[in-house]
Amino acid sequence: MKVKLLLVLSLTIFSNQLLAQDLEAGRVLYGTCAACHGPNGEGLEALNAPKIAGQQAWYTVRQLQNFKNGVRGSDPRDIYGQQMAPMAQILTTDQAIQDVSAYIETLGD
Ligand code: HEC
Repeated sequence: MKVKLLLVLSLTIFSNQLLAQDLEAGRVLYGTCAACHGPNGEGLEALNAPKIAGQQAWYTVRQLQNFKNGVRGSDPRDIYGQQMAPMAQILTTDQAIQDVSAYIETLGD
């Protein structure tokens, strides 16, 4: 039990340390997203891209995974989802998805 607790604690500390660097990586990754979602994640209706600023990272992570895996944006009737799906493909690693999602959560108005 003690070993498990230590493991959980050290993982928590480790992931907290990662977060600081991740925001910078996320900011760089967000450059592509800004074209449609706006520089501050405010959204752009003309491009059908919703506001994502301040969204909880866990939700953004799940949506990006859904787009990447074809759960969203693969049905030809899902016109706007199909515009977003290729964008999720540029996030090649889980780390990249985590980073950009963490950065989006920090955006706000
Ligand atoms: C070509 C324009 C375009 C680019 C670039 C783009 N998106 Fe999107 N995004 C969209 C559209 C359009 C939707 C709406 C999809 C729908 O209606 O289902 C969307 C939806 C989303 C959603 C779902 C929001 C929700 O609440 O369901 C997330 C998250 C998202 N985009 C994140 C990103 C990220 C992160 C990037 C950069 C890697 C990015 N987008 C780049 C057009 C774009």
